[in-house]
Amino acid sequence: MKHYLSINDIDTLSDWVSAARKLKENPKKFKTLGQDKTICLLFFNNSLRTRLSTQKAAMNLGMEVMVMNFGSEGWALEYGDGTLMNKGTSEHIKEAAMVVSQFCDIVAIRAFASLTDKEKDEAEVVLNGFKKYASVPVVNMESSVGHPLQALADAITLNEQNAKKRPKVVLSWAPHPKALPHAVANSFVQMMKLQDADFVITHPEGYELNTQITAGVTIEHDQKKACEHADFIYVKNWSSYTDYGQIKNEDANWMMTKEKLGKAKFMHCLPVRRNVVVEDAVLDSKQSLVIEQANNRTYAAQIVLKKIVEAL
Ligand code: CP
Repeated sequence: MKHYLSINDIDTLSDWVSAARKLKENPKKFKTLGQDKTICLLFFNNSLRTRLSTQKAAMNLGMEVMVMNFGSEGWALEYGDGTLMNKGTSEHIKEAAMVVSQFCDIVAIRAFASLTDKEKDEAEVVLNGFKKYASVPVVNMESSVGHPLQALADAITLNEQNAKKRPKVVLSWAPHPKALPHAVANSFVQMMKLQDADFVITHPEGYELNTQITAGVTIEHDQKKACEHADFIYVKNWSSYTDYGQIKNEDANWMMTKEKLGKAKFMHCLPVRRNVVVEDAVLDSKQSLVIEQANNRTYAAQIVLKKIVEAL
């Protein structure tokens, strides 16, 4: 495998999940595989889990890790072809990506959606700019439209926790005071489409995700009905996709509660706003899988890096 840009870069999800679970049993088994290899993690946005888990995964494989908060420390990048660069941008993605490639064997990028320009966000200018001009493999650490390392970690968590042949899994929208991107929800939906599960998405009207991604998935606008008999409920806020980046509903009734959760396991990618997205009683209960999801971020990143290093 050259790049890991989307969950669809995985050939057989179940094989990757099994391999990741084996790495979890013995994280240092391949501790010399990445010897003399360097990964460069470039963050255009904040992170806790992605930064530490990807670093840990690389260290488990014996790699050197360089981290840069590009958004606050790097030059403002230009992405357009043939642009007259006489305004705010100082360096073109062409040089930046080629220069970064001189220092590392893999580059990983986090660059969120602007939520102001749908066309530009969907073009994934940062991630695709690195893909186009870097001479080394590129890993997506959450881009405008996808968070495939999170989705792979979620697949590992589901696999570990599931006791049924065909579980019921619900993706529920929840309220949030800030406009958030669609990346986590998109990748979760793409990942669930690769699973044998009764998968339902629930959200208020006006919060439809990209229908090209949700095609074929059951959508239920009654959250309580959607959550009935669920085995897993994954909660996430996203802003409107149709009315791009807008907050159209802050209805607190959509917060996840113990009552709505029933006997299901609770999932969230974190960070999460307590008592806005989900009540304390859920997060503090044994039904919450959020810490195990975060833990599995290491093994998701490690299987991805292992496959890339093996193909170098
Ligand atoms: N879930 C996740 O990607 O967390 P961070 O934003 O802290 O990396």
